[in-house]
Amino acid sequence: MQDANRYKELRSAYDMPPPSSDPLLTEVNKGTATGEMLRCYWHPIELSEAVKDVPLKVRVLGEDLILFRTKNGAPGLLHPRCCHRGTTLYYGRTEETGIRCCYHGWLFDPQGICLEQPCEPDPNHVNARYRQPWYPLEERYGLVFAYLGPPDRKPLLPKYDVLENLAPEDLLISHGDSVGSGGAKRIHCNWFQTHENVMDPYHVLILHSSFSTVQFTPEMGRNMRVSFHNTDTGLHSVQLRDLEDGSTLRRLSELVIPNVRIVADPRLKIMGPTNNVAWTLPIDDVTTRIFTVFRFSENDDIPTNIGGGAMYGGKTWYELDEPGHQKYPGDYEAQVGQGEVTLHSEEHLAFSDEGVRMFRKLIKAAVRDVENDNDPIATFRSDPATINCVAGNFIDEEA
Ligand code: FES
Ligand SMILES: [Fe+2]
Repeated sequence: MQDANRYKELRSAYDMPPPSSDPLLTEVNKGTATGEMLRCYWHPIELSEAVKDVPLKVRVLGEDLILFRTKNGAPGLLHPRCCHRGTTLYYGRTEETGIRCCYHGWLFDPQGICLEQPCEPDPNHVNARYRQPWYPLEERYGLVFAYLGPPDRKPLLPKYDVLENLAPEDLLISHGDSVGSGGAKRIHCNWFQTHENVMDPYHVLILHSSFSTVQFTPEMGRNMRVSFHNTDTGLHSVQLRDLEDGSTLRRLSELVIPNVRIVADPRLKIMGPTNNVAWTLPIDDVTTRIFTVFRFSENDDIPTNIGGGAMYGGKTWYELDEPGHQKYPGDYEAQVGQGEVTLHSEEHLAFSDEGVRMFRKLIKAAVRDVENDNDPIATFRSDPATINCVAGNFIDEEA
C-alpha cells in the first residue's frame, strides 16, 4: 500500500492523491477481517472493582454492551436490548442471580438465561427459547476479561509469569487510565497506532528525551543500538545504551499479538524483569483504552502517581493546559496527532520503522490465520497457558 515515491512527483499539495488507512490494521467491528481476528482473543473490558451492582454501559470492539455484577458476585455481559420488547438493561436492577429488566421484570442470569417472567401466567415457568444475548467473562489480575468471538474458537485466558506466583507481601495493582499514554481515560484514535508505538523505540530519543524535555530519565535519551526479534507470541525489541560508568543498559520491550504490551519502567526505577503487563483495548475504530496491571511488594516505594507515567515540564499530563500540550507533547499528542485513524497510504516508513513493519506483518498473518480457520499466534488451548515475559531493564557490566 505504501509507495515511497508517492510524493516525489508532486507539483504542490494540490496533486496529493486521495489518502487511505489500511483496514487490515485498523478495523475492529464485527464482520471485518481484523475485527474477527481480534474476537479470537480475550480482552479486558473493565477493572473488577468498577463492576458493582449498578449496570455499566461498556463499548468493546465497536459493540455496545451492559456489564453488571449479581449480588452473588458473578459478573455478566449482556446485549443492552432486552429480548422481550427491547428496552435497555442499563435501567435494569441486579439481584442475587441476575439482572431484572425495568419494563416487565424479566430476570436474566450472566449467561443470558431467562429465570423469571413475572407478567406471565406462570411466572417461574420460563420457555427456554427466551435468552438474552451474552458473552463469556473471566476475572483475573483485578480485570474483567471478555471473549466476543465464535464460541467454538474460544481459547484459554493466558497468564503472564510476571503476574503469577505472588509472595505473601506481593500485590497487584490494576489500572484503567491508559498509563502508556499520559494517563488519558480514553485515547481518541484507533488502537493500532497507539499500540505499534511500543515497537518504535526511536521516538524515545526525540519525543521523550529532547523535544519535550526529559520525560523519563536522562539515560533513556542516550544513543542506542536496537534490534527486533520474533518470539513465539509476538516480538520484542532489544535496546542497548552505553552508560557513563562503562556499563550497558539492556532494555527489552515486548508485544504479544494482538494487543498486549509489556514494557519495563521507563524511569528505570524498577530494574530486572518488568513489573507490569498492559492491554490496548479497541473500544471502537476511533477510541482506545489501556489497562495495566502492576506487581509490587508491600515493601516497595509504590508511586502515588502510578498511572501518570511521564512528567511534562514538571507537570502531569492532566495538569497541562493547551499551550502546555504544544510545548511538552507526549505519546498522547503524537498518536492522536496522527488522526483518528492514521493514513497508511501517506506514510514513508524508514530504517527506524523496522519494528513497526514486523508488528504489522504479524497482525496480518494473524488475520489470515483466522480467515483460514487456523488458530492465530498466541492462542492457548492447553495448560500451562502462560506467557514468559522477556521485557525488562538489565545492566550488563563492562566486559
Ligand atoms: S422489555 Fe424487558 S421485560 Fe419487557
Ligand atoms: Fe512513548
